[in-house]
Amino acid sequence: MKLILLGPPGAGKGTQAKRLEEKYGIVQISTGDMLRAEVAAGSPVGNDAKAVMEAGQLVSDDILVRMLASRLARSDAANGFILDGFPRTVPQAEALDRMLEEKHLRLDAVIELKVDDAALVDRIAGRFTCAKCGAGYHDTFKTPVHTGVCDSCGATEFVRRADDNRDTVVARLDAYHRQTAPIIPHYAAAGLLRSVDGMAEIDDVTGQITAVLALV
Ligand code: AP5
Ligand code: MG
Repeated sequence: MKLILLGPPGAGKGTQAKRLEEKYGIVQISTGDMLRAEVAAGSPVGNDAKAVMEAGQLVSDDILVRMLASRLARSDAANGFILDGFPRTVPQAEALDRMLEEKHLRLDAVIELKVDDAALVDRIAGRFTCAKCGAGYHDTFKTPVHTGVCDSCGATEFVRRADDNRDTVVARLDAYHRQTAPIIPHYAAAGLLRSVDGMAEIDDVTGQITAVLALV
């Protein structure tokens, strides 16, 4: 299964990608996570990307296309993948088309998570993740079963992202509407677009995606 999960910041791409990974035995490829790892490592790419990400803007297409190409070449992507956060511009979507064509691969579906802008700021401002295993939580919508203890690995330290503040979220939403939403017609024209209601509860959204994928 080869999928793209598409949606604005906070739509639930990462949350759903983790579930699809387990269900279908395919890897999540999150360009945001890859960039954050570069920032944490202090690599040249990370040093260039840090300020751009903290301002809520998009990192250059050039860097992202190279990063994605080398990630897709790794053996764990051979079984299938879920792209989370890529493509994010029309040139990235076109570059992905070329990459897949060269490998004789075809996408199965592009799943759009539709969410109202007003809900996104609250979702993002309440988000935190386990510092050890990366499991995702939310102050209101998804708290650990035992306060302060990760459900998945038992760790007790959690982190919040540097770009998860209200001002930056507004800039990220603006970037989504101006630069990313224009790729939706690209995938609609290719007959790959499937839209689901991302405002529903997390389990319901997973159910909608599973139902859509049963038909592709
Ligand atoms: P990236 O890491 O991709 O961030 P994003 O697109 O802004 O999306 P988020 O990760 O914030 O949200 P999500 O949709 O994954 O939601 P989540 O599941 O966590 O990118 C970060 C930055 O990197 C970009 O701004 C850019 O600078 C750069 N970048 C990355 N890729 C790039 C590219 N291709 N080109 C250029 N630049 C790039 O859910 C959010 C919260 O809501 C969680 O707390 C969750 O528990 C909760 N939640 C989820 N679903 C529900 C639900 N159904 N109901 C209630 N709560 C829910
Ligand atoms: Mg994410």
